[in-house]
Amino acid sequence: MEASTLSRIGLAGLAVMGQNLALNIAEKGFPISVYNRTTSKVDETLDRAHSEGPYPLTGHRTPRDFILSIKKPRSVIILVKAGAPVDQTIQALSEHMDPGDTIIDGGNEWYENTERRIVEANNKGLLYLGMGVSGGEEGARNGPSLMPGGSFEAYNNIKDIVEKVAAQVEDGPCVTYIGEGGSGNFVKMVHNGIEYGDMQLISEAYDVLKNVGGLSNADLAEIFDEWNKGELESFLIEITADIFKVKDEHGEGELVDKILDKTGMKGTGKWTVQQAAELSVAAPTIAASLDCRYLSGLKDERVEAAKVLADAGLKEEVGAVRTGIDKKRLIDDVRQALYASKICSYAQGMNLLRAKSVEKNWNLNFGELARIWKGGCIIRAVFLDRIKKAYQRNPNLASLVVDPEFAKEMVQRQAAWRRVVGLAVSAGISTPGMCASLAYFDTYRRARLPANLVQAQRDLFGAHTYERVDRPGAFHTEWTKLARKSK
Ligand code: 6PG
Repeated sequence: MEASTLSRIGLAGLAVMGQNLALNIAEKGFPISVYNRTTSKVDETLDRAHSEGPYPLTGHRTPRDFILSIKKPRSVIILVKAGAPVDQTIQALSEHMDPGDTIIDGGNEWYENTERRIVEANNKGLLYLGMGVSGGEEGARNGPSLMPGGSFEAYNNIKDIVEKVAAQVEDGPCVTYIGEGGSGNFVKMVHNGIEYGDMQLISEAYDVLKNVGGLSNADLAEIFDEWNKGELESFLIEITADIFKVKDEHGEGELVDKILDKTGMKGTGKWTVQQAAELSVAAPTIAASLDCRYLSGLKDERVEAAKVLADAGLKEEVGAVRTGIDKKRLIDDVRQALYASKICSYAQGMNLLRAKSVEKNWNLNFGELARIWKGGCIIRAVFLDRIKKAYQRNPNLASLVVDPEFAKEMVQRQAAWRRVVGLAVSAGISTPGMCASLAYFDTYRRARLPANLVQAQRDLFGAHTYERVDRPGAFHTEWTKLARKSK
């Protein structure tokens, strides 16, 4: 093939995300080659490139043809299911690639798989990037948030492309070189953990407003639209308002009420919680959101439990709409509780990233991470600009909770936050995310905790020793002997 007709980049894997990202790249003027094992997907993508464009996109039916159609040094994005399919795709493509070429995995991959593949690729002289891609179908097509990590040289080869393809916000494109190794995948994983937390907190706000405040779907749509004009302005709040407006085409009322209350998941939230535990970082809000997905899955058991506990005498008023409630104040309180809870959840996610960055020497730039999440991704929100600024003010910030601006906001909102959690607890409406965030705040902000007692217990039964507040060293006490003697 003539050098002039070669594509600038290639993309293999033409399911929803791959197809849309390929069209986005082509639309930005970068000639792209596409490939998929099932060739009907190639035809589909070609049709779309023609009808939505025409865009500079060529379709290929064999790995060899595909690879040879790309200009050297070649950059090839693969967007297939994480795990074994990625290895198979790499195997099929790399056979035809040359030293200096790059493989870019755009899936939600476990970061250690990326680290293994970096080594395998290097052994063949190939470069490798693990690139988190967020924003779903719409983001992929019109501007996602991109989190590439791995070879810096490989990043520089595609920098001009990803900077054009990513979502654009006032302070630049939503992409940056994240760091070495599997850092891009890890950052995307924590993004998803934070996404779980946000979604959980929003669902709790909905539950309280609906089941304590007695608000209708129409009221909720209006409230969320209103919230989306203020400090909570974000993609998830915006789409939630839309969800409340959709009527059920098969019956009375709105569709949201007909959806089975079981949340699915693909695993990135679970990895986030596992990593938090692994690194000894408290992430209770994110963990609560994961637990809630597990509990939601036990639909049949919950239906049974509701019956058993009703028979055991659980009062009807638990979970019933409160009478005489000041709805206007409740709505305002819930907004504040949601915002304060969110700050704690992001603090947990950022601290997990920091712990991993230290462990792996990734040198993550937290202000930059907040910046590239301002647009394109699922957690995009106006509030991320404040997080960016907090880390710009102090790159070594111990926690977002103690950033002077966030600290002030949390203090201002704590009365409302406590009212909402208190009301929910007494009404029997579980708000595990909000409770976890509040408990996190109340634990973190206390100079002294009851951990002294736990240390004493550990020393009593296991001679684990303890430290004292008033002198250095490790101490052990014969607690039982002394206690019984003093009787
Ligand atoms: C994104 C999303 C995306 C996807 C996840 C959600 O950033 O675009 O996070 O990656 O929605 O698969 O995962 P669950 O299926 O686990 O909710």
